[in-house]
Amino acid sequence: MIRIARPTRISGSIAVPGDKSISHRLLIFAALARGRSELAGLAPGRDVRRTLEALKKLGVAIEEENGRAVVLGREGCLAEPSAPLDCGNSGSTARLLCGALAAQPFFSVLFGDRSLSARPMARVARPLRSMGAGIWGRANAGFLPLAISGGRLEGASHTLEIASAQVKTALLLAGLAAEGVTRVREPARSRDHSERLLSFMGARISSRERDVCLRPSRLEAVRVAVPGDFSSAAAFAVLAVLHPRADLEIRRVNLNATRTGLLRVLLRMGARLDIEVERRRPEPVGRIRVRSSELRGVAVSPEDVPSLIDEIPLWALAATQAHGRSVIRGAAELRRKESDRLTATAACLRALGARVHELPDGLEIEGPTPLRAAAPGHFRDHRIVMMTAIAGALCREGVGVSGERWAAVSYPDFFPDLMRVMGS
Ligand code: S3P
Repeated sequence: MIRIARPTRISGSIAVPGDKSISHRLLIFAALARGRSELAGLAPGRDVRRTLEALKKLGVAIEEENGRAVVLGREGCLAEPSAPLDCGNSGSTARLLCGALAAQPFFSVLFGDRSLSARPMARVARPLRSMGAGIWGRANAGFLPLAISGGRLEGASHTLEIASAQVKTALLLAGLAAEGVTRVREPARSRDHSERLLSFMGARISSRERDVCLRPSRLEAVRVAVPGDFSSAAAFAVLAVLHPRADLEIRRVNLNATRTGLLRVLLRMGARLDIEVERRRPEPVGRIRVRSSELRGVAVSPEDVPSLIDEIPLWALAATQAHGRSVIRGAAELRRKESDRLTATAACLRALGARVHELPDGLEIEGPTPLRAAAPGHFRDHRIVMMTAIAGALCREGVGVSGERWAAVSYPDFFPDLMRVMGS
């Protein structure tokens, strides 16, 4: 356990490591493309490592060092792995690979750690089966481990019950090699990295609002630098908004609007943010200046949820310091993440002295409440660990942060970077 306490100021400039969602996608798309892709700035965490190692076991030649990778694409044809593929803690690895493997004419097995083995997989298995893939697992392919026997697929029109970029991407990966058109309609728009990157790599794909349409396509190799991960940057943004003496710049960060719902919500709460987009293709990238702010409570509606799905623990921390009542609804999906993040967030914030009421599909928070010394636990969840560390950096008496090793799932250098912006 480490103790983190409030520094006198938060200042300077930081560039966070590469985006996790984009890194998973680029590695898999490059593996299926024609030619030699050069990727830079890949996410350094354990999750992306799982995708990279699994692709190597599928016969993909990848040379990787310090976030740079050269991937020799296999023009759509992977090789049968001789051993099961370990997805670790990574939902994106498991679900995205399900889609890619559904179209491969061989047998493969995916498994994961305890948390991932309890997360729902029927949402990918069912629609992939409807396209012709053979998928088996506990509870009718409801959970890992999954055995996949892929092959010729038929395009299909899918209507998702839950907005999920992982499910959407799995179906698009299957659709690349299917016969006919694959359509995906979501109840709300999820992150659109796959649509952007597939189009950039030459796929015949079009999308409008909640609908994506893909024709069978060949992908071409790319040279791309992955922008900083907004979900990692969000921790520092919330810290600077809430700290009484803060002026922080976050550089080279992904500003894709389907990811940055937290910024829009913080602006509605009164945050002082200056956002500048510097580049737009294939992904918007830019800088954010964040200054100490007085926040007021806010209602976050179900339609807003997908664009801040991974930042809700941090948003909830911000809400504990806002004046008045804040509420978020339509966020039941949070119960299916690396931990039950509604319960985990509520428990940690209550331990820190906040007034939080857990709803079946959200949270109700009454603020402001001073953060008090505590050791709130980590729930084996990287986002919860980072949220409690930020709470520590706002608490005069300090917070005992445990489960540091879980931060490495997405952001191995989170603690050294936090110490740097705290000036220690
Ligand atoms: C992700 C999509 C989201 C998100 C996860 C990464 C992705 O999950 O929570 O951290 O890379 O597509 P769902 O697709 O389950 O909503």
